[in-house]
Amino acid sequence: LCTHQGCAVKDVSDGTITCPCHNSTFDAATGSPTGGPATQPLPAREITVEGDSIRLA
Ligand code: FES
Repeated sequence: LCTHQGCAVKDVSDGTITCPCHNSTFDAATGSPTGGPATQPLPAREITVEGDSIRLA
């Protein structure tokens, strides 16, 4: 969930996670905010990668 106002972040592209609500962007590797109104990082989550799919562990 976005650290700005809690929307679900959606797109992951070129190492950037984007929030659709107000277009905050986050570094996919670290969770640090890189743009938009969010100032706090996304929390780390464990994932698994199966082919082209990413799932929460
Ligand atoms: S809730 Fe994500 S940018 Fe505002």
